[in-house]
Amino acid sequence: MLAGIDKLNFFVPPYYVDMTDLALARDVDPGKFHIGIGQDQMAVTSITQDIVTLAANAAAHLLTKEDKETIDLVILGTESSIDESKAAAVILHRLLGIQPFARSIEMKEACYGATAGLQLAKDYVLRHPGRKALVIACDIARYGLNSGGEPTQGAGAVAMLVTENPRILALSDESVALTQDIYDFWRPTGEAYPVVDGPLSNATYIDSFVKVWQEYQNRYQQDWQAFDAMCFHIPYTKMGKKALLAGLEGVDANISETLLTRYEESIAYSRQVGNLYTGSLYLGLLSLLEHSENLVPGSKIGLFSYGSGAVAEFFTGTLVAGYKQHLQKTAHQELLQNRQKLTIPEYEALFTKELTNENLAKNSDQTPYRLVAIKDQVRYYQE
Ligand code: HMG
Repeated sequence: MLAGIDKLNFFVPPYYVDMTDLALARDVDPGKFHIGIGQDQMAVTSITQDIVTLAANAAAHLLTKEDKETIDLVILGTESSIDESKAAAVILHRLLGIQPFARSIEMKEACYGATAGLQLAKDYVLRHPGRKALVIACDIARYGLNSGGEPTQGAGAVAMLVTENPRILALSDESVALTQDIYDFWRPTGEAYPVVDGPLSNATYIDSFVKVWQEYQNRYQQDWQAFDAMCFHIPYTKMGKKALLAGLEGVDANISETLLTRYEESIAYSRQVGNLYTGSLYLGLLSLLEHSENLVPGSKIGLFSYGSGAVAEFFTGTLVAGYKQHLQKTAHQELLQNRQKLTIPEYEALFTKELTNENLAKNSDQTPYRLVAIKDQVRYYQE
């Protein structure tokens, strides 16, 4: 029996900034952001959106009544927790109306968390025929105004329904994970922003890809030509390309060109959104599937997941017959097009707005799920 991704959707908040505007405001050549980093727009959240609402907005319309009755696992991969103890997945479980006899948990390892969730979900559904799991990758990536990481911020969620006999991507058991205790990016408890060593994070990302890819080749006797596309964790769109180019050194020019073309298709959405942390790899997968005319059922896709700190994993999946019918390209393009562009002063005001009930009450956000009040440390949501 096969297991994998049966349904796939993303949600981003309704605001963005243009990277030319941000570059000019920061006295930087716009070419650095558009070409050097590879970002055109950056998603911005308001205080009414947290990981619960972003995740609920991504998952809600994916789920039928039958799905809600058969989901046994709700896993939220995130590093933007709103609580040190209670998992946001528990709130999500209620908001989405999942049957009560389910496990709901939050998984953390920087941008890798959702991949661990996906593997857990795959193994669960393989052992429990007919049952399903909901995995959501959701984060708000914030480095601070005027910080080095500012152009690599973003926010959003990717929701995946994991089932047996999936209708989009069947996941293979072949995978290689790697753990290395390093400090390239981390956020000590209570800190609003991460501590980042940018050059070390870039170098470790590339080095991790080369290591897991080489180990994968050795273990499973497979080469580049076995793959029709490779998706990467995308903290900014130039990053995955650097790792891909490092791996492709000395590889046949036709194979390289094909994989680089597929890579460009995988970053179309991320160029307009920025880093989703845990969700970035899966937004890349969605972008690839919704932009590539060259993939067919049976195409094999490699996925490289990287979470700072650091855990990496290379795993693979195969597209299933009819997968295109289960994508929502038009809705996703409308979601991106219908966002409101912010001026830099508007973005800065939103970014620094205090999370108070007074400010929540004044907010004009009309997305279906949103935070409306906090009383006695409990968050209340519009449902
Ligand atoms: P920086 O110092 O602002 O930029 O840091 P830079 O000076 O390194 O320049 C970036 C690129 O722009 C360079 O190209 C420049 O040449 C080019 P490269 O040498 O890299 O190919 N450039 C230009 N290109 C065209 N026209 C111009 C121009 N000027 C310069 N005029 C950095 C950039 C990404 C390090 C910073 O933004 C940062 O620290 N970001 C956050 C960390 C990060 O994203 N790391 C990625 C790997 S770690 C990871 O993926 C995990 C993560 O998602 C977290 C998690 O796991 O939870 C971050």
